Amino acid sequence: MKVPLLAILCVFSLSISRAASDNPFLNNFLQCLPQKSEPTYPIFDAIYTTENSSFQSVLLGYIRNRRYSTPTTPKPLAIVAVKHESHVIATVICAKQHGLQIRIRSGGHDYEGLSYVSHVPFVILDMFNMRSIEINVTDESAWVQAGATTGELYYEIANKSKVHGFPAGACLSLGTGGHFSGGGYGYMMRKYGLSVDNIEDAKVVDVDGIILDRKSMGEDSFWAIRGGGGASFGVILSWKIKLVAVPAKVTVFNVKRTLEQGATDIIYKWQFVAPKLPQDIFIRAMPQVKNNTEGNKTVEVSFIGHFLGQSGKLLSLMNESFPELGLQQKDCFEMSWVESTVFWADYPVGTPLKVLLDRPKEPTMFFKVKSDYVKEPISKQGIESIWQILLGIEKVWMQWNPYGGRMSEISESETPFPHRAGNIFAIQYWLFWVEQGADTTNKYIDLSRKLYEGMTPFVSKSPREAFQNYRDLDIGANLDNQTRFETAKVYGRKYFKGNFNKLVRVKTVMDRQNFFRHEQSIPPL
Ligand SMILES: Cc1cc2nc3c(=O)[nH]c(=O)nc-3n(C[C@H](O)[C@H](O)[C@H](O)COP(=O)(O)OP(=O)(O)OC[C@H]3O[C@@H](n4cnc5c(N)ncnc54)[C@H](O)[C@@H]3O)c2cc1C
Ligand SMILES: *[C@@H]1O[C@H](CO)[C@@H](O)[C@H](O)[C@H]1NC(C)=O
Ligand SMILES: *[C@@H]1O[C@H](CO)[C@@H](O)[C@H](O)[C@H]1NC(C)=O
Ligand SMILES: *[C@@H]1O[C@H](CO)[C@@H](O)[C@H](O)[C@H]1NC(C)=O
Ligand SMILES: *[C@@H]1O[C@H](CO)[C@@H](O)[C@H](O)[C@H]1NC(C)=O
Ligand SMILES: *[C@@H]1O[C@H](CO)[C@@H](O)[C@H](O)[C@H]1NC(C)=O
Ligand SMILES: *[C@@H]1O[C@H](CO)[C@@H](O)[C@H](O)[C@H]1NC(C)=O
Ligand SMILES: *[C@@H]1O[C@H](CO)[C@@H](O)[C@H](O)[C@H]1NC(C)=O
Repeated sequence: MKVPLLAILCVFSLSISRAASDNPFLNNFLQCLPQKSEPTYPIFDAIYTTENSSFQSVLLGYIRNRRYSTPTTPKPLAIVAVKHESHVIATVICAKQHGLQIRIRSGGHDYEGLSYVSHVPFVILDMFNMRSIEINVTDESAWVQAGATTGELYYEIANKSKVHGFPAGACLSLGTGGHFSGGGYGYMMRKYGLSVDNIEDAKVVDVDGIILDRKSMGEDSFWAIRGGGGASFGVILSWKIKLVAVPAKVTVFNVKRTLEQGATDIIYKWQFVAPKLPQDIFIRAMPQVKNNTEGNKTVEVSFIGHFLGQSGKLLSLMNESFPELGLQQKDCFEMSWVESTVFWADYPVGTPLKVLLDRPKEPTMFFKVKSDYVKEPISKQGIESIWQILLGIEKVWMQWNPYGGRMSEISESETPFPHRAGNIFAIQYWLFWVEQGADTTNKYIDLSRKLYEGMTPFVSKSPREAFQNYRDLDIGANLDNQTRFETAKVYGRKYFKGNFNKLVRVKTVMDRQNFFRHEQSIPPL
């Protein structure tokens, strides 16, 4: 369907200019900025208000979910697309001084738009200009600014070394600012854990506008920003990451099986095998609704695999442990690790590496995501009941991501991310649509809740755990007449389990006045 984008933009611009004109908070804020930033780095060309013609393209450029780019979506009074650390400091100090909320945005992938939408007057502190990546192969580390994307990071690592990589997400446009601070997982998690398990240092601007590193912020704060969500504690400027070893050749595959081809039996078996395979193997199972050759609806499961080694060894391992999948030599592609990052982003084998540097220009899809953790294999009957729900929704896919391996060796309290040993896999539910309008949106939100409800018997309980990077505003929302803190306890326990209390303690020390906040931030005591 062709989207009448122009129509959206017109309404959009009218509603913004009305909001922006003669807003005293905004004017004071704008006057404050140059006073608080270093004159050597003029802040003027980092500031976008509705008067600037590129305001809308800058706003849209880092929105991924069209649910949050509609005419009724609240817009920021200004975007400060910082170019220097002193601009970050100025934005924090001036926003605080003049009563504006800030939303911090790096890659803009937040599923619920929390990095660029607020319901009180606000400005966006946008990090996309701060994207330097300094790789040091000698000590196998890198400093990565928050506005750099995962794709840029993979590209730069490969530019310096063919035998190093980094465990992070499959999507190439994720901002490292948000992605790492929420945990960050990808297809090397069974070997190396999460992104946050491989971070050595960070630079953060705190609520007083002071730049802290690991030493000056202290171990508790450094713990909190590695999985607790950066936006509750300060502005992440950059991360120091530990590069990991990868072989010169890795093997990938994507084998698809429909219900008619035995997908139910194979995915049933997958639950027992995938979390126990050697750590070098990661096999994601991705069920989605497809039309079969007769034109009838079916469920097709893609088994997408990554092996840190060559295909011969993989084939014999698979023949031994998972013959049901029927993996063959012709399904396997050997390539460098960086080429596998392109494969995982769903580009055809052989796509030039330059795509790693692409940045999307505007959102293309509406979506709603939820997540779950599974501790016991689901029965075949259970799996069949899940297929029935999916077939009723149609515009939906699931990702089943196997845990085990390194993930089970790291304790629940090592980082705020608590979903470690005892989980056999995590589920991501992704409903998507392109039709505009509140009715369609409400329909799919409703369907997502029904799917979630239908999954209850198969997933973790008390708490029903969820992954913070898969932000879901349904969690903990509108529960009776509870206080803000009680609400936070609900999503906090789901995202962080027992680590929530420590996150609250760190928050209370770092930001007692709760300047850094959003709908699902960590509250101070
Ligand atoms: C298409 C797609 C694919 C994805 N794939 C994966 C995946 O493979 N693995 C995975 O783990 N996750 C994945 N995610 C989820 C993703 O990790 C989170 O949405 C993450 O928060 C994105 O970070 P961002 O900087 O792009 O987003 P943003 O929307 O910019 O930020 C997300 C959150 O972090 C805060 N934040 C951002 N930058 C900073 C900063 N510099 N300092 C402090 N706080 C900050 C924001 O305020 C917001 O609360 C995917 C998301 C999408 C849309
Ligand atoms: C936005 O417009 C103002 C006023 O004309 C100007 O000072 C500023 O540099 C513009 N911002 C950008 C990013 O060009
Ligand atoms: C890389 O790390 C080594 C070892 O710590 C150090 O001696 C060197 O100065 C670093 N190089 C750069 C460019 O920072
Ligand atoms: C690394 O990047 C530089 C600068 O773009 C380029 O000249 C060089 O060829 C690249 N090296 C490799 C090994 O890709
Ligand atoms: C299946 O085919 C029907 C009819 O052609 C189409 O409307 C529907 O969108 C298709 N569904 C999927 C999941 O491809
Ligand atoms: C496809 O659907 C038609 C009509 O419902 C049915 O008669 C036929 O058996 C189905 N084919 C398959 C392979 O399921
Ligand atoms: C798989 O294992 C069986 C016996 O366990 C053996 O006969 C067969 O040759 C193996 N196939 C491959 C491709 O290794
Ligand atoms: C909600 O709580 C407040 C404060 O405790 C109380 O005054 C109010 O009556 C409650 N409202 C409802 C609907 O229970």
